[in-house]
Amino acid sequence: MSVNQSLKPITTKRENNLTIGGCDLVELAKTYGTPLYVIDEVSLREICKEYKSAFKDYKNINMMYASKALCSLATSKIIADEGFGFDTVSAGEIYTVHKAGANMSKVLFNGNNKTSREIELAIDLGVGRFSVDNFYEAELLNQIAGKKNTTVSILLRVAPGIECHTHEYIQTGQIDSKFGFDLTQTDEILNKIQSDYSNLKVKGLHAHIGSQIFEPKSFEDEIDILIKELARINSKYKLNLNELNIGGGLGVTYTNDDNPPSVEVFAASIKQALKISAEKYSIEEPVIYIEPGRSIISTAGVTLYSIGSSKQVPNGRKYIAIDGGMADNPRPAMYQAVYSAEIANKKDNCALETVTIAGRFCESGDILIEKIILPKPEAGDILCVYNTGAYNYSMASNYNRVEKPAMVLVNNSQSDMIVNRESLEDLVLRECIPDRLK
Ligand code: LLP
Repeated sequence: MSVNQSLKPITTKRENNLTIGGCDLVELAKTYGTPLYVIDEVSLREICKEYKSAFKDYKNINMMYASKALCSLATSKIIADEGFGFDTVSAGEIYTVHKAGANMSKVLFNGNNKTSREIELAIDLGVGRFSVDNFYEAELLNQIAGKKNTTVSILLRVAPGIECHTHEYIQTGQIDSKFGFDLTQTDEILNKIQSDYSNLKVKGLHAHIGSQIFEPKSFEDEIDILIKELARINSKYKLNLNELNIGGGLGVTYTNDDNPPSVEVFAASIKQALKISAEKYSIEEPVIYIEPGRSIISTAGVTLYSIGSSKQVPNGRKYIAIDGGMADNPRPAMYQAVYSAEIANKKDNCALETVTIAGRFCESGDILIEKIILPKPEAGDILCVYNTGAYNYSMASNYNRVEKPAMVLVNNSQSDMIVNRESLEDLVLRECIPDRLK
């Protein structure tokens, strides 16, 4: 089984209490407080190894972790050590992976509205590829590279018009998308680059069709469209563009109803599609970039919460409130995402109850899990929510002026703090009261 097919971090064990990476989750909650993000190093390294092994027979593959899923110094260091580069979308992500020691030539800067400041930082730190999203940006990037007397290697971000079956908000490749050039615009941008933008060197194409995808067929369709376009461009402009970034998107298992393909099956269908389409359009199989985010980090992460109050609505449901919610995990409120959980300090052998897990934030929509069966949840219990590694910490906010949780890395019965819990002092640190108000 691939790590992305597992509901829980692969080191999860049920002794009396739940343990991950050999660490008792109840002890972790006591030591570090809750809410607490926990990252299992073994699950993280294992999925990186699975990706590498699944693609090792493809002649030229570049793995880039999509930092937007979770970006921190320690996790970036682990992912870089596993041989991955990074897909980044902001100065913050670029700076973080740089600080973590990433090889910057294996970093791509992507996004639909990069600022001049961000572009300058990316050039100064030696980012290897820019994904150029639109006409405005091509001009801006050329100008800044010119000023710095340098040439930058770019991929053209295109919208291949694939509609995959995922939540509308996380679809990105469909026509009418805010990302990338429409395929009818690639001639115009290529002409412009050839005639006016001598500081841009086009290497190939980039696309991303969406996230939490279960059907390899979506990627096969994407590859066919991109290779067809690459072949057309090469023949029309007498070029030899040979790089294709097919984005991220492989899904994970949030509940037992989710059934994503393994990394191996996903890789096999991609390699097969590359071979078939390259033959069909008579070009060499291109250099490939893939940018998985969720499937790398989601399963490795869980969040621990303390259960507090509860409320039985007369003839209605039973709410169990936790000390976190939409500020540390906005996905249920934003995308109706469904999560699985267990009580770390209780086995399923006492009376079971069907409950709703409510967040602590002042909004009725702050419901973390609509319906779950748990062994009689009570105040003081520790709830472990699975698959929170991706798009939780990275999308966390300070809503209600609540401090962001800490994050610990667990492995071999050892736990290390990798993100300190925010303090009340942190909340006011960057604020000031103007003198005239004093
Ligand atoms: N590459 C590009 C260009 C992307 O836009 C994304 C994600 C990825 C790679 C990584 O995709 P992944 O492997 O993680 O599916 N906040 C949403 C997900 C937004 C994804 C945005 N782009 C969520 O929580 O579901």
